[in-house]
Amino acid sequence: MPHVVTENCQDCRFTDCVTACPVACFHGDGERLYIDAKACIDCGACIPRCPVRAIKEDFDLSADEEEWAQINALRAPGLPVVRAKEAPLPGAEGRRAALGLN
Ligand code: F3S
Repeated sequence: MPHVVTENCQDCRFTDCVTACPVACFHGDGERLYIDAKACIDCGACIPRCPVRAIKEDFDLSADEEEWAQINALRAPGLPVVRAKEAPLPGAEGRRAALGLN
């Protein structure tokens, strides 16, 4: 089952995750990233790289997070692949602190 980028990525976009992905399955817009469910090989390498714990295996999604599986599957194919780390969004560290993940 594929991995999923959930709510916490929004307004953070740290992009540490993409450097761990062996199959370049991350796609992004200006606010966040999404995983292409058809490309993900479920290696799990991205999970510990995310500073805000945004990535989960789809069977680990809570009821509130389940919508993200479909959002990732729908959005990823139409967006550019992100392969290299980029600067986080300006409010990323503040959001990380607000989430209690510093
Ligand atoms: Fe988003 Fe975390 Fe990657 S914030 S861009 S899922 S490292």
